[in-house]
Amino acid sequence: MTDRSLPNAPSAALLHRLGALLGPSGMLTAEADVAPYCTDWRALYRGRAAAVLRPADSAALAAVVAMCAEAGVAMVPQGGNTSMVGGATPDESGREVVICLSRMNRIRRIDPVDQTMEVEAGVTLKAAQDAARAAGMLLPLSISSEGSAQIGGVLATNAGGNNTVRYGNARELVLGLEAVLPDGGVFHGLRRLRKDNTGYALRHLFVGAEGTLGFITAAILQLQPQPRAVEAALCAVADADAALALFAAFRDQDPALIQAFEYMSGAGMELVTRLVPGASLPLAEPAPAYVLVELATPRRDADLRAALEAVLGGAFEAGTVSDAVIAESETQRLALWKLREEHAEAQRRAGASVKNDVSVPVSKVPALIERASAACAALIPGIRPAPFGHIGDGNIHFNLVQPEGMDPAAFLAQDHAIMDAVAAVVRDLDGSFSAEHGVGRLKPYMMPAWRGGAELETMRRIKRAIDPAGLMNPDAIFPPA
Ligand code: MLT
Ligand code: ZN
Repeated sequence: MTDRSLPNAPSAALLHRLGALLGPSGMLTAEADVAPYCTDWRALYRGRAAAVLRPADSAALAAVVAMCAEAGVAMVPQGGNTSMVGGATPDESGREVVICLSRMNRIRRIDPVDQTMEVEAGVTLKAAQDAARAAGMLLPLSISSEGSAQIGGVLATNAGGNNTVRYGNARELVLGLEAVLPDGGVFHGLRRLRKDNTGYALRHLFVGAEGTLGFITAAILQLQPQPRAVEAALCAVADADAALALFAAFRDQDPALIQAFEYMSGAGMELVTRLVPGASLPLAEPAPAYVLVELATPRRDADLRAALEAVLGGAFEAGTVSDAVIAESETQRLALWKLREEHAEAQRRAGASVKNDVSVPVSKVPALIERASAACAALIPGIRPAPFGHIGDGNIHFNLVQPEGMDPAAFLAQDHAIMDAVAAVVRDLDGSFSAEHGVGRLKPYMMPAWRGGAELETMRRIKRAIDPAGLMNPDAIFPPA
């Protein structure tokens, strides 16, 4: 919690007014209806909420927020509820309200000349991608949860994902933003300008703020040309050093072709192929590690297959790659991606796991994997590191699965010890303890050590200036004052 006095529970009179404003489908108060909004995807947190409010447009949201603010009621924004760090889950007091933006799900406009789209917060990332594709363009943001994750949450967490290596994180796509502020005021910043130097770039303040400064309600996103050709290959490599050697070879050929460059450990792949129905390894035998590389280009004249085969041929000769399979169809390309995208699900099926969404300079990923694996093994014998992720941008999900046969609760009781052991290595390698999932409710305790002093104090001042009563997503990002 931030430095706030305890917020108020909504009174019966306030709930009555909110219900009258939102209508029967816009407010949930029955315990069974509210419950799904009070637990995160990973079931790390089980909160309670006085009500779930579901406004259908920005004006209704602004009115709801003004009423809650006046009554001193704390608000927790929620979209697709796919947070990896409990960032959209209410606390246990039962005094907070969850405000879910999933009904604000219109794609307002797509402009092919400007190459932009205007989308509301409740549109799923997948629906936004599909709409951009149907208009002949690419929304270049791709994450494992894109079928459920919604634009509001994707922007509030500055999501990264598989294509950061080429297009950057969510922030880089945001040209304009509309947000409802903690007092119910509306920030109308839906400008689709490539150049707009007019004082502070307020839109960037809301991106990555995890709903602590208000609600992102709509955005203008920069689109890209739709690729005319896409090629993907799964490569067997000895380790992360070999993966980086392969990355260097692709960059040396043409950095503009690389659309994704993902790393998977042998241990993680073994869990996927054993525990996820329909997932099988399309190589002759298991390898210590794998790379999924995807090349894409909007150019008409490019022979992408030849480009891919040239680099892989060189890598075979150099011994960097021991085996590889190239997708021969869209179905095969999706099957290769399934092996990568199902890592989180496979780890969930394998028992309790602790996630470390960390980043280091790309060159230091091999040291991260080696040293963090050793640190965790020293802490809990039999612990199963299953690192994977976006090696092309230095973001590794250094996830650890419980030892076989260990009591899951006993394993999870050591989550901070495990996170701290990994964090010590990450710090030594000049990395970050929170790369793309956000801080949420899971990591505020790490903020003083990592962002203490003037940095955290400046964040607190900004929070106080915009949300003086501390009503917006109170348990996210900030540790208790
Ligand atoms: C991913 O890239 O698949 C995720 O961010 C998921 C995870 O950390 O488990
Ligand atoms: Zn990721």
